[in-house]
Amino acid sequence: MIRAVLTGTGSALPARRVSNAELAEQVDTSDEWIVERTGIRFRHIAGEDETTATLARDAATAAIAAAGLTAGDIDLIVLATATPDNTFPATATKVQAMLGIDDCVAFDVAAVCSGFLYAVQVADSMIRAGAHRRALVIGAETFSRILDWEDRTTCVLFGDGAGAIVLEARDSVDDVADAGARGILATRLHADGRHNGLLYVDGGPSTTGTVGKLRMKGREVFRHAVVNLAAVMEEALQATGLPTDAVDWVVPHQANARILDATARKLSLPSEKVVVTVDQHANTSAASVPLALDQAVRDGRILPGHLVVLEAMGGGFTWGAAIIRM
Ligand code: COA
Repeated sequence: MIRAVLTGTGSALPARRVSNAELAEQVDTSDEWIVERTGIRFRHIAGEDETTATLARDAATAAIAAAGLTAGDIDLIVLATATPDNTFPATATKVQAMLGIDDCVAFDVAAVCSGFLYAVQVADSMIRAGAHRRALVIGAETFSRILDWEDRTTCVLFGDGAGAIVLEARDSVDDVADAGARGILATRLHADGRHNGLLYVDGGPSTTGTVGKLRMKGREVFRHAVVNLAAVMEEALQATGLPTDAVDWVVPHQANARILDATARKLSLPSEKVVVTVDQHANTSAASVPLALDQAVRDGRILPGHLVVLEAMGGGFTWGAAIIRM
């Protein structure tokens, strides 16, 4: 049986780091309010020469190096973003060109903050079907470009960045629940379009002909997030037959420290097992999970053999979880 094994991670952040105090000079907010309600202290904001594609390229380059590969080894690029460089072509093809890959399959996935989870399931399925052997899965965003910088209820919450992983096809005889079974063990995705109006961008090519700005009913999103995230993590774990206490790390979507706490409590997961980067990066949408994953791999917390749960929820609503043995 073929399994998609994670062999490398990488991430990239814009050079400019903006504190809450700096934001409070532009909008009616305070460091105290932002930290207390969200846990966010800093976010990175893209400069003129930084785009979703350049951040994605840098994260991908680091992931390919970590996997011990060269760009030419990659035969599939799936890039999750809600902030593509252009309406088309897909940002994945821009990254492909930047990496100097002459021919491979490359496309974008749009599922907003859970885009990376959607991209992982798509790449995993294509690898297990035998169609591809070495995939680059990227989450990359420049949400600073779709924020309404006069709306304090949203502009303080988001940041820019990118994260990437390399998935490689490996033959495996191990059962999903065996400690030797490396790779993506289970994924679960959901969408419920009835909630389109709670988190959306008020423009687009086929409606206004403009890019638009992000709009959100934060309190209602919060309520749905905790319920949906706890449920989908349980569902994905159940698919592996592994108990919650077998989990070494949870790498959640980094939207709000209070959502992370409430979700962990609901599953009786100790907070020491939860990777938190929301204080440093804010919500980077599809980039947030692979960015946090790369950080925890590089600082030596997540090690080979560890059982890791990834989860995210975003506009749509869409949400999902993946169980990976590193
Ligand atoms: N600075 C200061 N005050 C602010 C503020 C800011 N940046 N943003 C909002 N406020 C004010 C509001 O105007 C409101 O004032 P009022 O009571 O006088 O009307 C008050 O703070 C409380 O607002 P509320 O929206 O009830 O706060 P909250 O505790 O629900 O926190 C969020 C707001 C957005 C932080 C929270 O709802 C949240 O994180 N939601 C989920 C967001 C999310 O995860 N989105 C992405 C999912 S992918």
